[in-house]
Amino acid sequence: MKVVHTIEELRDQLRGQMRVSFVPTMGNLHDGHLALMKLARQHGDPVVASIFVNPLQFGPTEDFSSYPRTLQADIEKLEKRRDVYVLFAPNEKEMYPEPQSYRIQPPADLGDILEGEFRPGFFSGVSTVVMKLFSCVQPRVAVFGKKDYQQLMIVRSMCRQFQLPVEVLAHETVRDADGLALSSRNAYLSPAERAEAPQLYAVLKQLQDALKSGRSDIAQLEHEAVRTLTGRGWDVDYISVRRQRDLHAPEPAEAAAEPLVALAAAKLGRTRLIDNLEI
Ligand code: PAJ
Repeated sequence: MKVVHTIEELRDQLRGQMRVSFVPTMGNLHDGHLALMKLARQHGDPVVASIFVNPLQFGPTEDFSSYPRTLQADIEKLEKRRDVYVLFAPNEKEMYPEPQSYRIQPPADLGDILEGEFRPGFFSGVSTVVMKLFSCVQPRVAVFGKKDYQQLMIVRSMCRQFQLPVEVLAHETVRDADGLALSSRNAYLSPAERAEAPQLYAVLKQLQDALKSGRSDIAQLEHEAVRTLTGRGWDVDYISVRRQRDLHAPEPAEAAAEPLVALAAAKLGRTRLIDNLEI
């Protein structure tokens, strides 16, 4: 695997390649990230991965400075799996040599709801860096995880609206045996919090079961799920059942026929976790 830190080196490595598949990450790689790279390998050649902790997508009170940066260990994991041909690991100056005053602004009805409501500017930061990374790598295929469901939708709609020649593939959420979705932020959890963390998935699963068994009182189910977690000491940002196609709330009449997804974000101590489950 070649590790490059500049856009120029990246371009040198990829000159003439027409089937590049790409997995952008912020590093601290776990089996979820590695599964995306395996899928990328099945859909293109060479595979490029990036590791860049993007300051634009962190709010002023968020964990930008403490976000785990583990480049050497990440490189070792990638070397072992052999799916990635080029790792692009730029520093901040390389990605933002001047203040990034041009921004991609997702539409409010997709970018300002759910995660966007609790993390203002987050999806503008994500979209802007993904656009820049796409422009550096020029992939034919890019792989994103369903773990970040709204991010996946926004990247897809950005590609569609800007008519980027990039096919966006989705990978299922990779979980630990107890159901907890793998995340770099799980590293922040204390042992007691780690033992509690699978409850986020558990309440989504209960919601899914209730809807599958024919209940249609969505507001009540959401409320029960919030109450369950709050009662266990969580600080819940949202637990919400939405339509898969646009992440808007389903009309009461369509709840049974419409593909839905339950999305949740909640803090356990100082750690904010997100998860979702398609219904
Ligand atoms: P990061 O959180 O590092 O995630 C990189 C990719 O891995 C994303 O597509 C994310 O959805 C996927 N991923 C993370 N955990 C996963 C899991 N348990 N199962 C499946 N996929 C998982 O998402 C970002 O970085 C950034 O916002 C980025 C897109 C790189 C832009 O900065």
